[in-house]
Amino acid sequence: MKLSAAILAVILAASVDVQAAKADYNVVPLPQSVAVDNSQKPFLLGSDTRVITTKALDREGDFLRSCISRLPKAGAKGTVELKTGLKSDNPEAYRITVTPKRIIVEGASAPGVFYGVQTLRKSFPVDISQPVEMPAGEVADAPRFAYRGAHLDVVRHFFNADEVKTFIDMLALHNINKFHWHLTDDQGWRIEIKKYPRLTEVGSKRPGTLIGRYGAGTEIDSIPVEGFFTQDQIRDIIAYAAERHIEIIPEIDLPSHMMAALASYPELGCTGGPYEVLCTWAGYKDVLCPGKDKTMEFIGNVLSEVMELFPSKFIHIGGDECPKDRWKECPDCQARIAELGIVATDEASAETQLQGYVTRYAAEVARRHGKSIIGWDEILECDDIPQDAVVMSWRGIDGAVKGTARNHRVIQTPNDYLYFDYYQSDNMDTEPLAIGGYVPVERVYSFEPFSDGMTDAQKALVMGPQANLWTEYVPTFSHLQYMELPRMAALAEVQWTAPEKKNYHDFKCRMPRLIANYEREGYNYARHIFDTDVDFIPDRASRSLVMSASVYPGSALRYTLDGSQPTTASTLYDGPVSLSSDCIVSAAAFAPDGTRGTVTSDTLRVSAPTFGDITLAYEPYSPFAFGGADGLVDGLVGNDNFRSGRWVGFLGDPCDATITFREPATVSQVAFKTCIVWPEGALEFRKAEVYGSADGKNFRLLATLDNPEQDPAQTNGAYLHEINFDPVSLKAIRLVVTPCEPSGIWKRILFVDEIQAR
Ligand code: ACM
Ligand code: ZN
Repeated sequence: MKLSAAILAVILAASVDVQAAKADYNVVPLPQSVAVDNSQKPFLLGSDTRVITTKALDREGDFLRSCISRLPKAGAKGTVELKTGLKSDNPEAYRITVTPKRIIVEGASAPGVFYGVQTLRKSFPVDISQPVEMPAGEVADAPRFAYRGAHLDVVRHFFNADEVKTFIDMLALHNINKFHWHLTDDQGWRIEIKKYPRLTEVGSKRPGTLIGRYGAGTEIDSIPVEGFFTQDQIRDIIAYAAERHIEIIPEIDLPSHMMAALASYPELGCTGGPYEVLCTWAGYKDVLCPGKDKTMEFIGNVLSEVMELFPSKFIHIGGDECPKDRWKECPDCQARIAELGIVATDEASAETQLQGYVTRYAAEVARRHGKSIIGWDEILECDDIPQDAVVMSWRGIDGAVKGTARNHRVIQTPNDYLYFDYYQSDNMDTEPLAIGGYVPVERVYSFEPFSDGMTDAQKALVMGPQANLWTEYVPTFSHLQYMELPRMAALAEVQWTAPEKKNYHDFKCRMPRLIANYEREGYNYARHIFDTDVDFIPDRASRSLVMSASVYPGSALRYTLDGSQPTTASTLYDGPVSLSSDCIVSAAAFAPDGTRGTVTSDTLRVSAPTFGDITLAYEPYSPFAFGGADGLVDGLVGNDNFRSGRWVGFLGDPCDATITFREPATVSQVAFKTCIVWPEGALEFRKAEVYGSADGKNFRLLATLDNPEQDPAQTNGAYLHEINFDPVSLKAIRLVVTPCEPSGIWKRILFVDEIQAR
């Protein structure tokens, strides 16, 4: 029977009613309290739901209206009311109360209401093709930290005003309220300064950019990078951010990272130049000359003009990575040192203290504008920096620990947790080139801003955490989003959520609805969070490996055992799998639309020594011990990445392993692998000797394999070595693999894996 269009429409309309998808207030960042009351009916939210606000909350109202305009009509009469007046110690607190006919979002202030609106928006289900059922109940929420920052470098690569606004939208989605805007550096000056027009005429342009990683080559491309923000554009961006309750903190990085300024005004340097806007990332020695009055005047004038533009109570004055070479040689700098009566101490050279003079000068200019400075943790290298100076700890958490011990307020941006220019996967072959490091989402999530050992008084000085994105290796805005998302989500939870409520697994389960927001907004984001962690647990009794995996909610794990790439037709993982013979396991998660995540592959080899009892005559090298001795006979074969956890490293000592088989076996070959990585000092073996024992006690030499010298042309990678001999029945073997000793290399690590015998 053919359905008429009218009947079909009725059926569809009915199903819309029934199928309204449910919201969930457990969003990212997780609110402090969510209480759902299932005894009451939910509120039905659609594009026709009326939003009522006071005049002062017009923008919050418009914001919510634009979010719900994406929903179909609900055909219901409920209203959403936004208001302030919530009593709370925390000005950013809000409460959402949902009843069948009304949603009330009440903030302690307009920002509180704004975060309530964000929570409503993020509570929507992934599929918003139906009106949304908002469960009755209450959300009571407030942020843990008042300072919730994100930094962006628009110098190394330039991002225009529209892109910066989109970045601000991304911050708003994550309840981030401070935007640290890195506007000047060696590679460009990106803010109009009326008193010094050449800063942008000359300093905002460079002819090209280093190709590849810094240090690996010196070739510069010929793609010009230029651009700056006029003061009008900046005012517009400040207003855009303010509507989203985001304060912009500008950074003028000084006295170092000033090559663009020096190229514009060479008289501000110690040597007088000439100088160039840099096309590469480091290696310069030229910085501002604090010995010259003109330079100090420049600092005062630039900071004053910037502070008049930005309403923030803070100005970031950089202070990082200042080489002192020029100051040591410069008569003006040395005269300034004498004039100030600076005397070198064991802790701080005269030139280090000269930087302290610059810091104090900048802080005094800021104070005249009613503001305080923020500086990178290098500012602590001088004793007498002003007490109101805020320390931004970037070289780990040391700056925060030392800064708070000296009674300074601090912001936590440790590079090893919160540098989003670092790699987010250890599979570097498949990642775009990054500066280095390794900061996956889970690492960001694990950061605790109150460092161990801080007293309560010190903790009170921690303003909050911030992530930094330097853009040396981030040429496009889409790439920028890839580096930020979803690490920004993990950051948001570090900034907002009470530590006792944080749980990484739970966070991952809440991510699909946030990622749906990324999709709706057209944001690019990294997919590593979808990847599957495949684990292998040995079951020695059955001589098998049990494969288990955690699968991202909403995705399906599929695998093959023949080395082929998994497809949507491959075997579905639905619980632990026992593997007891040679195979190559390749597994990948598939999103609901069939998109495949990263494929992980492991080679399993089960032979006589596998799961045997193993002892080592020499301890492995502790940083690379990984699974220890058992890792050599766990059935899992190491690949080209010696950090995969499969390998065992030895520093100087041989790998001298004695293995008692689980059952006696006739063997005529012993095999093992080595891993060569020249830059890490991971090199080849020199000699391998195999001994056999029929009784497990008395051993005799069966065969030797010589490798005369380290071949200088040997490329990085994993190598299989096989040692053959006449068949013999054995209960145990001893394999002694001696490292080679090339001259001129101070550290040699011998990586060995999977000892096999057949
Ligand atoms: C920095 O990363 N140089 C502050
Ligand atoms: Zn000088």
